Amino acid sequence: MAKLIDGKAISVQIKDECREKVAQMKAEGVEVTLAVIQVGNDPASTVYVGNKKKACEYIGIRSLAYELPEDTTEEKLLELIGELNARKDVNGILVQLPLPKHINEEKVLDAIHPSKDVDGFHPQNVGALCIGKPGFVSCTPAGIIQLLKRSGIEIAGKECVVIGRSNIVGKPMALLLLRENGTVTVTHSRTKDLKEVTRRADILVVAIGKPKMITADYVKEGAVVIDVGIHRNENNKLCGDVDFESVEPHCSAITPVPGGVGPMTIAMLMNNCVESVALQK
Ligand code: GUN
Repeated sequence: MAKLIDGKAISVQIKDECREKVAQMKAEGVEVTLAVIQVGNDPASTVYVGNKKKACEYIGIRSLAYELPEDTTEEKLLELIGELNARKDVNGILVQLPLPKHINEEKVLDAIHPSKDVDGFHPQNVGALCIGKPGFVSCTPAGIIQLLKRSGIEIAGKECVVIGRSNIVGKPMALLLLRENGTVTVTHSRTKDLKEVTRRADILVVAIGKPKMITADYVKEGAVVIDVGIHRNENNKLCGDVDFESVEPHCSAITPVPGGVGPMTIAMLMNNCVESVALQK
């Protein structure tokens, strides 16, 4: 039986640590503020944004909500970001993705001042991660490192295979595992003989976006498997990119879906908000 990596419990630990730090800052007269911008009303985005606001409330972070109509122009959005960049009382700025098609996502993310980019998406923060300088790190991969560390899983010297090369998960994940002295391989849709590569992994991080694609034949006996995917199956039940029933008996540890990687993203966002205060000094 594999050890279940409990993302729910670990995310609560991190949020409680943030809560303590925020209380201490408040006692010293410092308030932490996160501005959350949503354009349009994509139902999934509304749920995510609602969860972010709730987490802020729990931790004691002030949240400013900007709910803009679907037809907001790129110019208007950039103007709002400019205002928030200039405000001394705003520490973090988050623009919920995806944005409506008429808005250039890259231009918008680049407009957020790197010192307020709590999502860690700005090229300056991505570059900082690449060369080991301080900066914000994308929340989901940062959360995965915390899952591994807090579950007592050693990364140094391990064969780490990442499936997926997105800017938000795959690429920063590879850089973080490398920073922890893992031996890292990144695979993707054009990888030849994916199974041959994934079967080398001591730590396998799966972020492909295809429900239950990874079955036991992709996994080495005793591997640690981290599942970033989240989908609804034909019975409306949540499932990941990993076929849990098939893979679990072969792992030493595995994240469930739900309750694995998912809760860590918001916990790490909160952590980035708390750290933003020191970074801005
Ligand atoms: N949409 C889905 N995930 C994310 C995220 O982590 N940050 C932002 N800004 N938008 C998202």
